[in-house]
Amino acid sequence: MIHLENVSKSYRTERIETLALDSINLEVETGEFVAIMGPSGCGKTTLLNLMGLLDTPDQGTLSLDGEAIGKQSDRSLSRLRNRKVGFIFQNFHLVGDLSVVDNVEIPLLYRTLSSRERRELAAEALGRVGLSSRISHLPAQLSGGQQQRVAVARAIVGRPQVLLADEPTGNLDSQMGDEILDLLEELNRDGGTVVMVTHDPRMAERAHRTVRLFDGRQVQ
Ligand SMILES: Nc1ncnc2c1ncn2[C@@H]1O[C@H](COP(=O)(O)OP(=O)(O)OP(=O)(O)O)[C@@H](O)[C@H]1O
Ligand SMILES: [Mg+2]
Repeated sequence: MIHLENVSKSYRTERIETLALDSINLEVETGEFVAIMGPSGCGKTTLLNLMGLLDTPDQGTLSLDGEAIGKQSDRSLSRLRNRKVGFIFQNFHLVGDLSVVDNVEIPLLYRTLSSRERRELAAEALGRVGLSSRISHLPAQLSGGQQQRVAVARAIVGRPQVLLADEPTGNLDSQMGDEILDLLEELNRDGGTVVMVTHDPRMAERAHRTVRLFDGRQVQ
């Protein structure tokens, strides 16, 4: 489903160049549930961004669901991303002046659905994360853990083939964290491919396997 061959990525700022990923080779099969672990700054978010077509490698090749990434226009990349990928960002990325339910509807805007169908799907996703009573709130009116759950609802609302989750339980207490993991597992059982960054070995244990990064390199 996701195939990376010799993928490298560096960031340049005025003063320094950081090699964030160094020759990564990785294959994530359809229906797999993979955890990514490693210390802060080792390249986990960078790797997830590449897998989710939010960024492109400097070197190497990447393909998603058999489609080689690289030559497409930004527009066709976003279309591919929107059709296939759900993303739970490390810092939520909720839109501050949209209500909870409007945030969750965002991935559905590019699909041919009536506004009523969109609302129903968004309400259902919010129900699954236990937030039915908060659909009209603004993100700022929610706790950090609740915002995290809105981000989860937005990522799963379109039933993506690939779910990329960047520390989806980082802001949650352990019970809520377990419940989010239940949702990821459910999506995975339905055939979805899940890649999750986590610092928590207990969460990683629930994945099929763990990929470890250190200083931009894969160590296991
Ligand atoms: N936009 C950017 N510009 C410059 N350097 C960056 C940028 N984004 C990330 N980096 C650098 O690339 C390296 C990898 O960053 P990345 O965000 O992938 O780490 P991470 O493993 O997700 O860390 P954390 O666990 O803290 O989220 C870090 O050294 C970071 O400073
Ligand atoms: Mg990160």
